This record gives sequence, structure tokens and C-alpha cells, in this order.
Amino acid sequence: MPINLNITVGTIFLLLAVSCQGAAALMPSLSEPCMVTDFPALCRGTINGQTNVNAATDVAIRELMKRTRHARDIAKKELQVLDGGVATCLSNFNSAFDNLDKALKNYAVRGELYLRASELQKEGKKIIFTNVGNPHALGQKPLTFPRQVVALCQAPFLLDNPNVGMLFPADAIARAKHYLSLTSGGLGAYSDSRGLPGVRKEVAEFIERRDGYPSDPELIFLTDGASKGVMQILNCVIRGAGDGILVPVPQYPLYSATISLLGGSLVPYYLDESENWGLDVNNLRQSVAQARSQGISVRAMVIINPGNPTGQCLSEANLREILRFCYNEKLVLLGDEVYQQNIYQDERPFISSKKVLMDMGSPFSKEVQLVSFHTVSKGYWGECGQRGGYFEMTNFPPRVVEEIYKVASIALSPNVSAQIFMGLMVNPPKPGDISYDQFTRESKGILESLRRRAKIMTDGFNSCKNVVCNFTEGAMYSFPQIRLPPGALQAAKQAGKVPDVFYCLKLLEATGISTVPGSGFGQKEGVFHLRTTILPAEEEMPEIMDSFKKFNDAFMTQYDNNFGYSRM
Ligand SMILES: Cc1ncc(COP(=O)(O)O)c(C=O)c1O
Repeated sequence: MPINLNITVGTIFLLLAVSCQGAAALMPSLSEPCMVTDFPALCRGTINGQTNVNAATDVAIRELMKRTRHARDIAKKELQVLDGGVATCLSNFNSAFDNLDKALKNYAVRGELYLRASELQKEGKKIIFTNVGNPHALGQKPLTFPRQVVALCQAPFLLDNPNVGMLFPADAIARAKHYLSLTSGGLGAYSDSRGLPGVRKEVAEFIERRDGYPSDPELIFLTDGASKGVMQILNCVIRGAGDGILVPVPQYPLYSATISLLGGSLVPYYLDESENWGLDVNNLRQSVAQARSQGISVRAMVIINPGNPTGQCLSEANLREILRFCYNEKLVLLGDEVYQQNIYQDERPFISSKKVLMDMGSPFSKEVQLVSFHTVSKGYWGECGQRGGYFEMTNFPPRVVEEIYKVASIALSPNVSAQIFMGLMVNPPKPGDISYDQFTRESKGILESLRRRAKIMTDGFNSCKNVVCNFTEGAMYSFPQIRLPPGALQAAKQAGKVPDVFYCLKLLEATGISTVPGSGFGQKEGVFHLRTTILPAEEEMPEIMDSFKKFNDAFMTQYDNNFGYSRM
């Protein structure tokens, strides 16, 4: 039962993919009969827009005039094709802009709230940015060892300095030399488009240690953050509006935005808030049936484990059901596991989709196509600005892997320093290494503090009037439900705002806490949430939660007209 992951022909990354289609369509029809020499210019012309198209057309006409009458007849025909190509190109531009517009509308974590918070900050107000899971921006210190290694890789001349051992520990020096030896020219040189083979091998060894099953470095691609990997894979899956991707709701807007940008269809499946944001397979079946009844071919399913914005950890039993569902429905599973290090309870430890799939045995382990994503941005590293990520493909035929390699080649190479961060994350100092104790102390310190902060935050929300919040089991977010009184819904309507946007704006103005309204992630009709990260400094947390409670309780009193609340 091979599941098809077709690669759209000429899959050129994102907008380029759309805008180049006109050019791709022109190339074969013009090249031979007309023998016009400047085809690349023609094609560039069509990509760059109408003015250049005309210029390019002139070039073509001048060339064609030199040909025989017979050739001119052919040329005329071909110019009609060119006009058709121009029209296609312009309409592709329009649809690209429409898609871009939709995609940006979907990007709530940088939306209206964030923009207003930035304005207030410029006016001198203290803003607590909890809209993006960006730990270093909220004061988290970088881990020492990886920064030492990458610093040495960036400034290799330090390795020749006789005093280098006074500034850097010997294991950092050895690792820097190791990584430099894997490159062909240091950090300033491109790597293979899939990433450095030596780092991909380190990733494969990490996956083997984690899951207890073999992992092949040839099926691992290093990427500029997990986002780029997700975009790359979705770009290969989505051929057009008829292709659907199952996405959890509430969801992380990377998915809705990319699906819009690529012109595909998002097929939502709802997570169950009353079951701690669990996933009900019957619900999935209904979503697929509904999409199919609308002519959508559902090709892939996304899971985010641990969840963003919902913070839940999927149980092994749930993962089995999902994988079985993907097998039956012939879906590619995209396992977004970027928060796998961020776990704040012991009942449901992180378990990877790959491990569960392999544990299930044949036919599942041999047939379900899975792409798993990871990053250096999350976990206790929080190195969001370094943009290091990877994806691993399981059960993909070599031809598909080759095509994905071709698509990756368009961007030449992922960031090389980011690849080294990834290598270090999957292969940190070991017991006995000089840096081991310090590395472990720093890592534990961050993780334990995150665990405490998760509790302070969810307890804080649950102490507020009309607010209920599931415990943040993992990831970096709390997603409380705000039960709004009818008075608030009416005031929001009068202000022309979505109710949760109205609430979050008022919260921002009153307290400086910048959150993201739940509507940015999707939620059930008539139910309202906000998302906040659990990342503010631990010592500031009690004050932040106090200030939230004061605002919330006053807001509820102000708008409470005793007619009940938005439902749970
Ligand atoms: C669920 C999820 N996937 C992917 C990403 C993107 O991570 P990266 O910084 O590696 O692109 C994020 C970032 O917040 C995320 O929450």
C-alpha cells in the first residue's frame, strides 16, 4: 500500500514556485521551432512582470525577423503562446499575492496585538512580550558550551593562538576542530544542500539512541529552523486547492499560513479541550469525510507533539491510533516534535512518532510515510535566532528523496553555523568531558525553572474569574479559556473587534502583557482563549500573574451583566 507523495514539477520554493510557473510553461513551446537565442531573458521577462515582458518580447521579435518567412509563421504562433504565457504569469502573480495576503492574515503571533505592543513600547511603555516562544528575548542565557564551540568555528584563527586554552576548555577546542574538519572551507562555505554529512550522521545517531531503531543520515535533511523544513515538505505535498492537509485546531500558524501561501486547503481537526487537548480519531474521520465530500483530496496530516499552543503531550496509545489512521487513509504524517525536550510532568513523557511507528511493526512500520521535525530553537537551548533544524523521512522511496533533495538544492545550503548548533544539540558533552558538569547544571537549571513556571502560570490563570486553563504538560505555552460575559461580546462588536482580540488589547493597554488571541490559532465557534508563553523570568512571574488577575477580574466585573458567559 504505497502512499504517494508526488512532487509537483518544478517545485521552486514558495512564491518563486508560483511566479515561475509561467516561465516553465513557456520554455518547451518556444525553444525549438523559433530558435530564439535569448530564451532565458524571455523567461526572466515573464517572471519580472509586464514591462520586462514587453522588452523581452521585443528581443524575441528582433531575433525572429532575421529568420525565413516560414520561421516567422512559426514565430507568430509562438508569440500567441507567449501572450498566453504572460496572462498565465500575471494571473499567477495575482493568485500568489492573494495567497500571501491570506497567509499573512493567518500569522497571529506577529499580528495586531504584536504591532500594538511594539507601538506602545516605542512610546516608552514596559511591554512583556509573551507572544512568541523566543526564550533569549525574555532573558534566557545561552548555554556556554555550544556558544564556545561555534565562537571558535566562527573565528578559527583563535585556534592558532597559543593562549586559546586559557579562554576555552579543551573539549570545546576539540569539537570546534572536529566541526571545521567536516566543512569544506569553514563556516563561510556552502555545505551540501541537505547539510554536512558529518552532522547528519550525528543526528542519525541521536535518533537511534532516542528511539532504539536505526536511522539513515541519507534520509535526514538539515534546515534553517524547523519552519523551513515544514515549508519544504508542504511545498512538495500540495499541488493545488484540491489538496488538503489535516491540521490540529488550535494550531501553530506556520501551518495555516504555509498552506494558504501554497494555495492548498487546510482541513481542520479539533483537539478536545475537556480531554486535556486530546485527539479523538472519530473526529479525524469526520474531518476527512467532510473534506472528501467537498472534493478535497486529503494527502497529509500534521501533529504537534508536545502541542503549540495547547501544551499537551500525546500518549503512546493516541500516537498508535494516529499512525493506524494514516496507514488506512494513505496520509503522510508530519510529526512536528520541536518541543520534545520541554516536558513538565512525568506521567506522559515525550515519545517520538518514529519510535511508536517502528514498535507497531509491519505493515505500519514499513509503509506509513512519516516526516519528523526538530529544531535548536526550542527545548532548553532556545536558540531561535540561530535557525537550526532538521527533518527525517521514514518510508519514502528513493526517487521522492531525490526530488526533495533537488528542491533543497535551489536554496544551495542551510546555514552552516546553524548546522553546527544542531550537531551540538544532538551530541552534547558526555559524562567525563571537561564541560559536562557545567553543561548539565545549566541545562537542568533552565528545564527545572520552566517546569516551575508552567505551574505558576496555569495555577495563576485558574485562580482568575471566568478563566480555565489545562495544565501545560509540555512545550512553552499556556492556553487559558476566557469565558467572556455578553457585555464584553457586545463591547467588542461595537469596537469592531473579534472578542478575544478585544480582551487581549485591553489586557495589553492595562498591563503591558502582550499575548496572542486564541482566534489566531483557531478555536471552536463562540469559545475564546489567549496564548501566552511561560517564558518570562521566573522571579517576575508572580507579579505578572498578579497584574493579569487584577486586570481580568476587573474586566469581568465591568462587563458582567449577569446573562451568562461564552460557553466552555
Ligand atoms: C510547533 C512549532 N513548529 C515549528 C516552529 C518553528 O521553529 P523554528 O524556529 O525551528 O523554525 C515553532 C516555533 O515556535 C513551533 O511552535
